Amino acid sequence: MRIDVFTLVPHAFAWLTEQRPIAGILGGELDLRLFNYRDSTPLRAGQVDDEPYGGGAGMVLRVDVVAAALDAVYAGSRPRRVIALSPQGTPLTQPIVEELAAEEHVTLLSARFEGFDERIVEHLATDAVSIGPYVLSNGDLPAMVLLDAVARRLPGALAEGSGELESFSEQLGGGLEYPHYTRPADFQGWQVPEVLLSGDHGRIEAWRREHVR
Ligand SMILES: C[S@@+](CC[C@H](N)C(=O)[O-])C[C@H]1O[C@@H](n2cnc3c(N)ncnc32)[C@H](O)[C@@H]1O
Repeated sequence: MRIDVFTLVPHAFAWLTEQRPIAGILGGELDLRLFNYRDSTPLRAGQVDDEPYGGGAGMVLRVDVVAAALDAVYAGSRPRRVIALSPQGTPLTQPIVEELAAEEHVTLLSARFEGFDERIVEHLATDAVSIGPYVLSNGDLPAMVLLDAVARRLPGALAEGSGELESFSEQLGGGLEYPHYTRPADFQGWQVPEVLLSGDHGRIEAWRREHVR
């Protein structure tokens, strides 16, 4: 899968690309490309945003700048999924993550300050996605959230089977995963449920099913 991210701070993604699972699949199942709007802006001095029409505080990411950035990379043919990260977008859920992980190519657009000129969302993006009902300073953390959630669904990202039985997965009926415990079995009187120490796989399975939330 190819994921292209358009941002003003490509280096912000360095940390994420050094972490598993992304580090393990980069250059293999995941082809991640980072583009800076400033590298293709048609405006002078690397300008990318401008004052809002109608007045008010903040700067707005310009539509001509984003169009030029997409043209510079795709030369007129746009990818199937171009996602603007925006608080006004569709809330990100695991089914949306699964849908995107099945795509061959996804493009993410990040904004900052007051956000996108609305024509970017209407005409250049195919979707707008929000990572939650709160406002962050820019779209880079939202892009990384989406990137990480999608990347871990790609083949080879996780150990065999560990991505199937998780919170929000089909196997758990969209529910929350049962609790996990590890050694010591007794810590200051806080006991691990006896059934998990029993070695009885049938009972353990039943206990886990009961504790899906
Ligand atoms: C400060 S925010 C803009 C907030 C906008 N003026 C508003 O009131 O909705 C700047 C950028 O950060 C990103 N962003 C902030 N919060 C987000 C969220 N919850 N989900 C997705 N993107 C977000 C978007 O790219 C947004 O355009």
